[in-house]
Amino acid sequence: MLPEALRISRVVRETADTFTLTLNAAERGGFFFLPGQFNMLYLHGAGEVPVSISGDPARPMYLVHTIRAVGSVTRPMQALEKGDEIGVRGPFGTSWPVERARGRDVLVVAGGIGLAPLRPVVYHVLKHRKRFDHLVILYGARTPADLLYEKELARWRGRLDVELDVTVDRAEADYRGRSGVVTKLLSRVSFDPENAIAFLCGPEVMMRFAARELEQRGMRDSDIWVSAERNMKCGLGTCGHCQLGPVFVCKDGPVFRHSRIAPLLTRREL
Ligand SMILES: Cc1cc2nc3c(=O)[nH]c(=O)nc-3n(C[C@H](O)[C@H](O)[C@H](O)COP(=O)(O)OP(=O)(O)OC[C@H]3O[C@@H](n4cnc5c(N)ncnc54)[C@H](O)[C@@H]3O)c2cc1C
Ligand code: FES
Repeated sequence: MLPEALRISRVVRETADTFTLTLNAAERGGFFFLPGQFNMLYLHGAGEVPVSISGDPARPMYLVHTIRAVGSVTRPMQALEKGDEIGVRGPFGTSWPVERARGRDVLVVAGGIGLAPLRPVVYHVLKHRKRFDHLVILYGARTPADLLYEKELARWRGRLDVELDVTVDRAEADYRGRSGVVTKLLSRVSFDPENAIAFLCGPEVMMRFAARELEQRGMRDSDIWVSAERNMKCGLGTCGHCQLGPVFVCKDGPVFRHSRIAPLLTRREL
């Protein structure tokens, strides 16, 4: 599968190292995906990396990715501007099981860039709000300057049908928001553990502690889902780069039931 060139129609600088690219998918008739799926993004002369689709699944003309510049491919991507082209292969991978969440409380727990793959879940739940019960969004970032999608967070916070809580690991003394790890927020929120489903994405250690806390609150492990974002190469299940024991994250994941992936994640921290 060769990358398809798509033109960038918008660039948003989210933080010092993170940016959002909107690609124009109208000319190809839209880009359809499920919440949680990812694309392989190719930059000529640099290489190819897996990046989650972070836009609204109900707006397929806009293909959105939020990218943190960490290395040899994502850093040069930071210089991309409106009008430039980027190669796209996808969509790949499993999705958040939003249909299983119908009629239930939905808990979205994100750490850092982990909010990007979860944002399509939030869009989906808000679009079909009556199908779901309580919507809880818990989000943690390193510092206030690292918070993504600030305008959107403000909009979600303003809604009566969303419970949003945000925390940062560290902040200046005059910061008025919460500080501490995101897992601490779990003990504050109210939800029905018998009838809730949780979607977690962030550093593996955060997902592990969040899952443990949710189980202590009475949730079944089978209702806890995580996205395991291991390093990848082919995205097709052939190179073995993303292999975790018997599992290929690129084709069996990245979204897994926590109970399935937890024993494998503890083997080696990313
Ligand atoms: C399914 C999936 C979805 C992803 N979605 C996003 C997304 O929405 N936004 C985003 O910014 N990133 C996402 N990532 C991570 C992204 O793919 C990596 O940051 C990217 O591959 C780094 O490539 P690089 O060549 O720029 O850095 P490299 O030069 O390869 O690495 C630079 C540093 O980043 C570390 N690193 C590389 N890959 C990962 C990874 N997967 N997780 C954590 N650390 C890594 C390396 O160990 C190294 O320390 C996702 C990864 C997967 C597997
Ligand atoms: S990335 Fe090649 S097997 Fe998964």
